[in-house]
Amino acid sequence: MRFYIPTDVYVEKNCVKNHEKDILACGKKALIVTGKHSAKNNGSLDEVLEILKNGKVPYGIFDEVEENPSVETVARAAQMGKTFAADFIIGIGGGSPIDAAKAIALLIANPKETEEILYTPKKLDALPLVAIPTTCGTGTEATPASVLTNRKGGFKKSIAHKIFPKLSLVDGKYLAFASKELIVNTAVDALAHLVESYLNSQSNVYNRMFPEYGLKCWEQNKEALLSNSPINENLYENLMLASTLAGMSIAHTSTAVPHGMSYDLTYNFNVPHGKAVGYFLAAYMEVCEKAVPKDVRTILDLLKLKDVAAFAEMVKALIGTYELPRATVEKFATRMCGNSSKLKLSPCELSKENVWEIYEKSLILL
Ligand SMILES: [Fe+2]
Repeated sequence: MRFYIPTDVYVEKNCVKNHEKDILACGKKALIVTGKHSAKNNGSLDEVLEILKNGKVPYGIFDEVEENPSVETVARAAQMGKTFAADFIIGIGGGSPIDAAKAIALLIANPKETEEILYTPKKLDALPLVAIPTTCGTGTEATPASVLTNRKGGFKKSIAHKIFPKLSLVDGKYLAFASKELIVNTAVDALAHLVESYLNSQSNVYNRMFPEYGLKCWEQNKEALLSNSPINENLYENLMLASTLAGMSIAHTSTAVPHGMSYDLTYNFNVPHGKAVGYFLAAYMEVCEKAVPKDVRTILDLLKLKDVAAFAEMVKALIGTYELPRATVEKFATRMCGNSSKLKLSPCELSKENVWEIYEKSLILL
């Protein structure tokens, strides 16, 4: 039994300012990686810039990371970092900038390699990475995963390298600048990480401590997420904590079948990640319930839900439903049946019929 997370993680108010010295200890020249707007709007970028200026650390900013970042974007950012001779990376934002920052850290540290290396298993180092999440779902600040869109290959999936951030600074105050819809979608992603790492063949008593506490935290936000009112700022830290705990758990187990199924929806139809994953969660639980009923019961108890049907109703109230032509879904199901790396993470063996059952129950087929 093993558990390994080499990231120094702080979850606290004003933690970027509080850990100025830790940031400056990461290197001498920083490449900051962000999306187009959010890091500027929520103040996180300004806080980082002030620290770098105080420490007289030269920096470059790559602020062109799109949602579901592509290999091409990562390669462009890496080129900028190499030219600038960056020796550490600061990724600020949701999962997209931080996932991109991990791959960029790898490419800059290995200048002789091309972006082809991203999907080729090989032992390579990466530059030190500081992760500053500003949404409450990805958990990437505590995982080694970097999910990229590979247009050449026509897929979205994790790269072949495990890159943990060196330092992660998690401050709920940035959620004040996120829309309610974004908070809900990302919180559903965190819920998926908690559920998929619990109902997982790699799960053990170490990593289960995280979803066991994380689901309790998540439950405390349930009412606020389901209501029509804005989220009270008192809940921001708890939302972030649930997300980071979920990340720590998937760092050990990886995500499972619902994530594997979600990528086709996002790649082909731009469905936001949290929603795409959320659609498949209840049906996955239902299939697992036959094999590991106690584990499913534990999840439901922690969420204070009566049964899987109540779980399905809750998720539907949060993210709605999604329609697709039956023929399209059949293609996705066939592909999923060949995705052994995700299927083997299910706590029970999933037949073709089980896979189809999950699709059929999760989507509205036209
Ligand atoms: Fe996710």
